[in-house]
Amino acid sequence: MYNLQAIVLAAGKSTRFKTGKSKLLETICGQETVLFSVKLLESLHIPTTVVVGFQKEEVINIIQEHVPTVNFVIQEEQKGTGHAVQCTKNNWIGDNILILNGDVPLITQDIIQQLYEAHQSVEAAISFVVAHNTDTSEGYGRVVTKDDITSIVEARDFKGDATEHCCINAGIYLIRRIFLEEYINRLEQHENKQEFYLTDLVQLASTSKLPVKMVSAPFDRIRGINTLKELWTTEQIQRAEIINHWMSQGVRFSLAQNVHIDLHVTIGAGSTIGSGVQLRGTTNIGNECIIGDFTIIENGVLADNVTILSHSVIADSKIESHTTVGPFAHIREHAIIGTNSSIGNFVEVKKSVIGTKTKAKHLSYLGDAHIGNNVNIGAGTITCNHNGSKKSITTIHDDAYIGSNNSLVAPVTIGKGAYTAAGSVITENVPSQALAIGRARQVNKEGYAQKLREKQNQKEPDGDPLTAAPFRAAVRASDSSI
Ligand code: UD1
Ligand code: CA
Repeated sequence: MYNLQAIVLAAGKSTRFKTGKSKLLETICGQETVLFSVKLLESLHIPTTVVVGFQKEEVINIIQEHVPTVNFVIQEEQKGTGHAVQCTKNNWIGDNILILNGDVPLITQDIIQQLYEAHQSVEAAISFVVAHNTDTSEGYGRVVTKDDITSIVEARDFKGDATEHCCINAGIYLIRRIFLEEYINRLEQHENKQEFYLTDLVQLASTSKLPVKMVSAPFDRIRGINTLKELWTTEQIQRAEIINHWMSQGVRFSLAQNVHIDLHVTIGAGSTIGSGVQLRGTTNIGNECIIGDFTIIENGVLADNVTILSHSVIADSKIESHTTVGPFAHIREHAIIGTNSSIGNFVEVKKSVIGTKTKAKHLSYLGDAHIGNNVNIGAGTITCNHNGSKKSITTIHDDAYIGSNNSLVAPVTIGKGAYTAAGSVITENVPSQALAIGRARQVNKEGYAQKLREKQNQKEPDGDPLTAAPFRAAVRASDSSI
């Protein structure tokens, strides 16, 4: 569509972040900041070069994983945005070069389209995107036109009136290659920061009476990210857009302002999302689901009509239709819970496949288990899947009934329709339709309670072990030795 090539600047040190990590690797609604512009350019089929430097291996890895067609140029020393572009010199082939700061994630195709049209309409040497913003506390370069010369003055150097010079530079440029080739080496290092500013090209073009074009965009779409606060603000905007989108698709939010949803999540119509819910990664929620308050789902797949009650955590797992999970349940590591089943409070399910109409309603750990249909898992049942060195499988066939507080010592199989008695430690396979009892038989000693009480009172008349007979005897013995 566009006869362009693009350069994304992503080598900077992210000093203002103060985290020691490149801001380009920080995520916004689950996607690394740098990927927003790189993916947009890919979708527009614009061949792209990314300039990397600080934490380059990590930045390259994340881009290659998602957009393998990108080229990289390394800026060994970060000497400013002008220097970063200079480093890409050998890659310039297109007639016009689109340059994007890598830390402006919410840029859209519309902005690129308008920039392109404006640039071509006057055959500009350089065109760039601006936005209205009179807040000088934000660190943007400001567009200043004086005596017909337009320049961009960085925030720290700007002394004028921001209401008069009310446009900031968005960090999105379209530059004619022949102009760039001629002028890039004319950039001068700024003394205070020892950097070459790409923005100085505007003044160079303007002084040389070459056409300079500006197009304006809404400020919220071109926010740059220099600080953690700006990252938070930008993520708020993205998050609100995602929630607006799902609302428009028939998803009900009981308290939308504290819900987090990542970019690649999908939610079916008629579903309700509670307060404080986080839906992360590639989570897919079906139609008519209920996600209770403070539940976190990461890479979960929920079929239709699933209910997740509050405070549950689901990761990398699948819940089939009409099943209920929680409250306070933990489902993880590729667990699959079948239809019409019920996983209750304080139940952890790890790497297990559970059939239909199966219930584990209270206080259980089901790990590395294959559990059939219509099985009842009693309260407090634990699969003992780890013997200290290796993990083993527990298999429970259809219609089995596991009594409360069982320890199922894996590897072990419970046959179809079998029962296990409450409190059992099951170490051997249970045949189908059998009843397994794996506990000591109870003994009742008639009248023994009174005898026991008398015996205890003899030893400890006042019930306090410190003043009990043996203790007093010991104290007397030590007294006499003084
Ligand atoms: C820059 C602009 C400013 C504009 C703002 C918009 C300059 C001098 N200033 O300021 O006018 O309002 O963007 O967001 O360009 N980078 C490199 N190599 C370097 C330095 C930076 O690749 O040596 C990359 C950074 O990783 C970042 C981008 O270039 O992705 C912009 O750099 P940054 O330091 O954030 O520039 P700003 O101070 O925001
Ligand atoms: Ca910036």
